[in-house]
Amino acid sequence: LRIGVLFGGRSAEHDVSLLSATNVMLALEPAKYDAVPIFVTPDGQWLLSHFKDGALAKPSSGAEICLVPGGHGRMLAVPIDGPPYELPAIDILFPVLHGLHGEDGAAQGLAEVARVPLAGCGILGSATALDKDIAKRLLKAAGVPVARSVTIDAGAAPALAVLEDQLGLPLFIKPARQGSSVGVAKVNASQEFDRAIEEAFKHDRKLLAEEFVRGREIEYGVLEDPEGELFVSRPGEIVPAESHGFYDYNAKYIDENGAALIVPAELPPEVEEAMRDMAAKAFRAVGCDGMARVDFFLMPDMTFLVNELNTIPGFTNISMYAKAMAASGISYPEVIDRLVAHGLA
Ligand code: DAL
Ligand code: MG
Repeated sequence: LRIGVLFGGRSAEHDVSLLSATNVMLALEPAKYDAVPIFVTPDGQWLLSHFKDGALAKPSSGAEICLVPGGHGRMLAVPIDGPPYELPAIDILFPVLHGLHGEDGAAQGLAEVARVPLAGCGILGSATALDKDIAKRLLKAAGVPVARSVTIDAGAAPALAVLEDQLGLPLFIKPARQGSSVGVAKVNASQEFDRAIEEAFKHDRKLLAEEFVRGREIEYGVLEDPEGELFVSRPGEIVPAESHGFYDYNAKYIDENGAALIVPAELPPEVEEAMRDMAAKAFRAVGCDGMARVDFFLMPDMTFLVNELNTIPGFTNISMYAKAMAASGISYPEVIDRLVAHGLA
């Protein structure tokens, strides 16, 4: 089976995608899969890559790749200095892209246009889950508890005092459509607020001001089988190091001791079960299919809320999805087999 693996991409999580895709390549069993890695440059160009000695090549030039509309996986390579030639068609496309233009329905739409099966979540769930403003509206409508927030459109940031009245302090400022905590800041005072707003608007034209939730970070992996049944993993817990204040980009990917992962998380069985049901409900509420990781905050009184859903969760060494699945008896290669089976169904 030929599987096209997209990695890199245009979003601020370009480098995170490189880590994720390297692990996905390692988990693709050569006996079953003929993997075709395709590097998506920060500009969005697709370039033919290769995987050698455990590393993915990030070509800066070479053959550009086109997925032919209606071509059922046909691909053309267009070298800079020669005539285009046809590559063997892929049977399925696996975008391992995080954030905008990859996790937001764009690459998923391209698979639909090309009429090639897709591994992972489809257009609708990808688009709604990536936009934290839209996702929250859908979650709320379905009765899934979420943190209180105020949506801020470009050029219309309210005064901090107004937000403080509604959300208290400290509060978080987040770009609506980003991942890995890029552009996210915790705000206590008005000086920090101005800087946080300015920084967050570099990443999106819509922001969220969100109440600070003092809770444990608990995550579940959700995987849909070809018949539409949901498998929800055991929970994992993320314990960020004190020094980071919250689970920010540095704690995630830069500082080796930035956070500890506890899988499975230690929860009272009835709480674990209630959160598992809520993970499935959240998955359905935002229109996901295939795969997502559902992230929660669990309060000391054992109430909880959904923080967000990630439809292409990190597959880096420190990421939770594969670990939570493994703790539930589903190995990494098995996760991929199931995603592929779902995509081909
Ligand atoms: N957005 C990152 C990759 C995650 O959710 O794991
Ligand atoms: Mg995210």
